[in-house]
Amino acid sequence: MTLRQQTPAPAAQTSNADTFPAGFRWGVATAAYQIEGAAAEYGRGPSIWDTFSHTPGAITDGSTGDVACDHYHRFRDDVRLMAEMGIRSYRFSISWPRVQPDGHGPVNTAGLDFYRELVDELLAHDIEPWPTLYHWDLPQPLEDAGGWPNRDTAPRFAEYAAIVHDALGDRIGHWTTLNEPWCSAFLGYGAGEHAPGRRDGLSAVRAAHHLMLAHGQACEVIRAANSQVKLGVTLNLYAVSPASAAPADADAVRRIDGLANRIFLDPILRGEYPADVLDDLSPLTSFEHLHDDDLGIISAPLSFLGINYYSRYVVAAPESGDGARPSENARSSGDTSPSSDGGAPDNTTMSPDEASASAWPGSETVRFVERDVPVTAMGWEIDPVGLAETLVRVHREYTTLPLYVTENGAAFDDVADDHGTVDDPERIAFIDAHLRACHDAIDEGVPLRGYFAWTFMDNFEWAHGYTKRFGLVRVDFSDQRRIPKSSAEWYAGVIQRNGLPI
Ligand code: NOJ
Repeated sequence: MTLRQQTPAPAAQTSNADTFPAGFRWGVATAAYQIEGAAAEYGRGPSIWDTFSHTPGAITDGSTGDVACDHYHRFRDDVRLMAEMGIRSYRFSISWPRVQPDGHGPVNTAGLDFYRELVDELLAHDIEPWPTLYHWDLPQPLEDAGGWPNRDTAPRFAEYAAIVHDALGDRIGHWTTLNEPWCSAFLGYGAGEHAPGRRDGLSAVRAAHHLMLAHGQACEVIRAANSQVKLGVTLNLYAVSPASAAPADADAVRRIDGLANRIFLDPILRGEYPADVLDDLSPLTSFEHLHDDDLGIISAPLSFLGINYYSRYVVAAPESGDGARPSENARSSGDTSPSSDGGAPDNTTMSPDEASASAWPGSETVRFVERDVPVTAMGWEIDPVGLAETLVRVHREYTTLPLYVTENGAAFDDVADDHGTVDDPERIAFIDAHLRACHDAIDEGVPLRGYFAWTFMDNFEWAHGYTKRFGLVRVDFSDQRRIPKSSAEWYAGVIQRNGLPI
C-alpha cells in the first residue's frame, strides 16, 4: 500500500510557469456518505441517502453506502496513506445524522468522537483538516418534516453547525458550510436523481433558498462563537457557452448560467437574486418563501469561496416548435447536470428526459448539446479552459475573496492488473490540464489559494453507485484494499514540487 519513495525534484526541473505560489494548499476531498460506511453503527441515524439508495431502481448498480470504503473503521490507515502521498489538506464532510441522528435535539457523542479522532489523526500527520458541514446527507427525520423546501430545516442546520463547531473549533482553520447546494436542491427535489428523489420544480427552488439561508444562519452562529473563524461555502460552477452565435442560444446561456451559477453566486456574494432568474421562475413562484431579512443573512461575510469544477455546458435554444421533447440532446452529466442515466425512483411517471429537464425549472426546454470532444466516463466534456474562465469570472465579477478549487477530477474506466495496479494516464492528463488552467487563472490575478483533487479513493458515486471510479487510490471493494494508482504517485510529485512536471 505504500507509494514509491519520491525523491525531491531539483529546482531546475520546475520552471516558474509551472510552480504554484508559496503556501498553495494541496489536498484531496471526500464526503461522508461516499466513504464512511458504518451506516447504522455507533448511534448514526438514517439520512435521505440511506433511504434513497435502498429504494429499488434509484442507484444504477443497486448498491448503497452501507459499507462504502469502510472508512469509519479504517480512517487511521487512510490518513497514513494520505500522509505518504504528501497530502497537506484533507477536505472531508461531517455526517449530520452521525452527530445528531434526529436532525435536532440530542447529540450522538460517539459520532462526534469519530470526527474528533479523525481530526487528531490528521493533525498528528501534519494534514490540515478541512471539514464541510453538509455534503447531502440530511437526517431522514428532517426530510419527513418537509426537508429543504421547509424553512425550519435552516435553523436546524445552524444548531447542528454550532454543535460541531463547539466540539472541533479549536482545531479547525477553515469551515465550509455546504457542498454544492445546486445538487441538493435541483437534483434532489427537481430531477429526483438524487436523494430524496422528489420531482417538483417549486420544491427545488424553495430548497435552494433554504439551503442558502441555512448557510447564512450557520455562518452567524459560528462567527458569534469565534470572530476570527474562516468560513466559506462550496458551489459547483460551470462554464456555459452557446452552441451557435444565434441570439436565441445566448438566451439559453443566460438561463442556464442563471440557474446553475448566478442563483447561488448573487444571493451569497451580492445579497440579491438575479432579476432575470426571478423572472424566468415567475411562472412557478413569486418567491413568497423569501422573507425580508433573508438576503442579509444569506450574504453573511465570508473568508473564502470554494469552487467545484468538472465541465462546461454547451446549450442551445429550444428547437422551433419544441416542447414535446424538451431535453432531447441533454447529455448525461451524472450528479451535476441533467442525466438520463442517473437512475430514477420506482414511483416515477416521468421519462428520464423529463426528469433531467426538471432539474432546470423555468428553462426546461433549453437543449444541452453534446459535442464531439473528449469526455470522461461520466460523459462530461473535458474542458480545462472552462476552469480558468470560471475562476477569472468569479474573481472579476463577484469577489476578491481567496478562492479554492475544492473539487476537480475525473472518472475513467480504470483497468486493474492482477495485483490491482492501475495505470491511469487519462486521469493524470486531466488533472495536469486543470492545474495548468489554475495556474493561468493565478497569472490573471485570481487569488487562488489551493486545489483539492476529487477524490482520494474510489467511492460511492451517488446515483451511479460503485460503477464510476474517481479515486487517485483504487479501492478493491471485495476486500477494501487501497492501491494507489499511477495518478496518486504523480499527484504526490506535484505536491512535493509545488508544481507541475515540465
Ligand atoms: C461533486 C460532488 O461534491 C461529489 O460528491 C461527487 O462525487 C463529484 N461531484 C463527482 O460527481
